[in-house]
Amino acid sequence: MDIVQLHDKRFEVFIDKATIANKVVALAKQIDADYKGLNPLFLGILNGSFIFAADLFRHISTPAEISFIKLASYRGTTSTGNIVTAIGLEENIAGRHIVIVEDIVDTGRTLHSFLPQVLQQQPASVQIACFLSKPEARVCEVVPRYMCFEIQDTFVVGYGLDYDGQGRNLPHLYRLCD
Ligand code: IMP
Repeated sequence: MDIVQLHDKRFEVFIDKATIANKVVALAKQIDADYKGLNPLFLGILNGSFIFAADLFRHISTPAEISFIKLASYRGTTSTGNIVTAIGLEENIAGRHIVIVEDIVDTGRTLHSFLPQVLQQQPASVQIACFLSKPEARVCEVVPRYMCFEIQDTFVVGYGLDYDGQGRNLPHLYRLCD
């Protein structure tokens, strides 16, 4: 399955599943060491992060918790553009060490809008762990502390990421064919 067709577009393998798996384990080890004894709370952002979050969390050995939230986005009345609200955040995050788990930081708008809401609840710390980052596409400043891969500004699917609902189940990461 080197080339896959999703809706009207064709995608080619970009990062294979073995490379992804090795990188996720290495990242988990780094996070594990940094958060030893701190009982971190991982907050996975649905839908895109579900596979990355599961693989990452499986390799955390210090006691830790995980929860998932969905971010609903709507157009704000100010020039800041979209405003996001978190759905499903039931944990009290005050005083907790939070690791936000995201599939990809693209323009940065989503997390830029969401982070102040997290900080308002006075967690002990907040860091971002993302599977992918597209620094060239950044519009809002968001700096992930932990990241598997930095990629160019190209559209990708697989390993949880979708194109119009399709492709999340693909084992490798694929990019749009030219
Ligand atoms: P941001 O607010 O622009 O950083 O957007 C982040 C969200 O856009 C991610 O959580 C993804 O759901 C989606 N996204 C951005 N780039 C891609 C891509 O290349 N493939 C699939 N989804 C993407």
